[in-house]
Amino acid sequence: MDVIESSPVQGNNLDPWYDSYAGRTAGLAASEVRALFAVASRPEVVSLAGGMPFVSALPQDLVTGAINKVMAERGPVALQYGSGQGVPALREQILEVMALEGISGSADDVVVTTGSQHALELFSKLFLDPGDVVIAEGPSYVTAMVIFNSYQAEVDHVPMDEHGLIPEALREHIASLKAAGRRIKFLYTIPTFHNPAGVTLTWERRVEILEICKSEGILVLEDNPYGLLYFEDKPPAAMRSIEEDGVVYLGTFSKTLAPGFRLGWALAPHAIREKLILANEAAVLSPSSFTQLIVSEYLSQADWRGQIDTFRGVYRERKETMISALQESLPELSWTNPNGGFYVWVTLPESLDSKAMLPRAVKELVAYTPGTAFFADGTGRRNMRLSFCYPTPEQIRVGVRRLANVVSGELDLLETFAGTGELGRSRMPRAAFPPSDLR
Ligand SMILES: Cc1ncc(COP(=O)(O)O)c(C=O)c1O
Repeated sequence: MDVIESSPVQGNNLDPWYDSYAGRTAGLAASEVRALFAVASRPEVVSLAGGMPFVSALPQDLVTGAINKVMAERGPVALQYGSGQGVPALREQILEVMALEGISGSADDVVVTTGSQHALELFSKLFLDPGDVVIAEGPSYVTAMVIFNSYQAEVDHVPMDEHGLIPEALREHIASLKAAGRRIKFLYTIPTFHNPAGVTLTWERRVEILEICKSEGILVLEDNPYGLLYFEDKPPAAMRSIEEDGVVYLGTFSKTLAPGFRLGWALAPHAIREKLILANEAAVLSPSSFTQLIVSEYLSQADWRGQIDTFRGVYRERKETMISALQESLPELSWTNPNGGFYVWVTLPESLDSKAMLPRAVKELVAYTPGTAFFADGTGRRNMRLSFCYPTPEQIRVGVRRLANVVSGELDLLETFAGTGELGRSRMPRAAFPPSDLR
């Protein structure tokens, strides 16, 4: 019998093109938990796993009104190819959105992309050669790391604490990478309402990290999808508001409007902006004229700031529900308590493994994302990401209760089989709250 070889891309050598795929596709491995998530999408499962915005909080007539107006007044333009940089009027409006986070810039330096995901892809294509290093927080946004891997770059994780990336650790990592002769291409950071950690980089650290990167000649890629979705206090202004030349800033309409438009943008220094436009044209010719005109119409007619307030209220209530459910049902765990965004990062007792526990959780009709998904090196077994953006408060309460059953079942099993009794729930020390270190 033939041996069936495996490839991360297409599965096995029954694929006639098995030997033809480019070497870089080795980074395009399907996540090990993907199959489970297919099961987890069944309606009876409470999914605390995905990061889908709650688009039902956006009144549909606001969108249909904009679509109708665009089609009545500018149909042929909306249905045509456009510029590789994006519609000028929308780029001006994007400046107004970014001004809410302290950023001033020129519409000339904005490049509209197919979601900020595509900006990440274009930026990586411009900067990454095989063997390069991208410094990122540990944990980091999983689908950015997939892109970095697909360009055969390596992710070096710098630890965070509850105040975000730790500047001293960044210094140490840069020094040891440089000493090892590695080429660091950029720092990829999500300073505000981090995905998945939920923490926010303090103002002082923003300034310090920018100083470090400037003195080391390292470009900063600031990814900021969640900054406007704060619950109480406004977060510190964007890093791009402090430094223009050394920062490429990414924004998106996915969380403050709707991801279905697939509209994001990059704000970049002139030279990089030029290259981003060329890369955008090479990839898609032009971002969708149709959705750009609709979003531009929405921004000029609708109370978009009020709509962001509505989203904030929805997510604030869900976050509070999740935190109080965790306090009630899982007091032996620790977690971050975000002031905005979509995610809570949970730390399990030492003995538990979130990845190994996931099949049991799905059987109990609750899903989460294991921490291992967010580290390039497979660490993070003691962590899980819980999303509160999409499930209703009631579903969140039910989901956390189910999770508590799973955790206590695992702890009981460990106690039974470990023999020593030391792994038992009753003896589990309560972890610090909030965790002082997300390593
Ligand atoms: C940190 C981060 N960056 C980028 C994206 C991509 O967003 P989009 O392509 O919808 O703009 C997401 C989506 O969840 C995200 O969490």
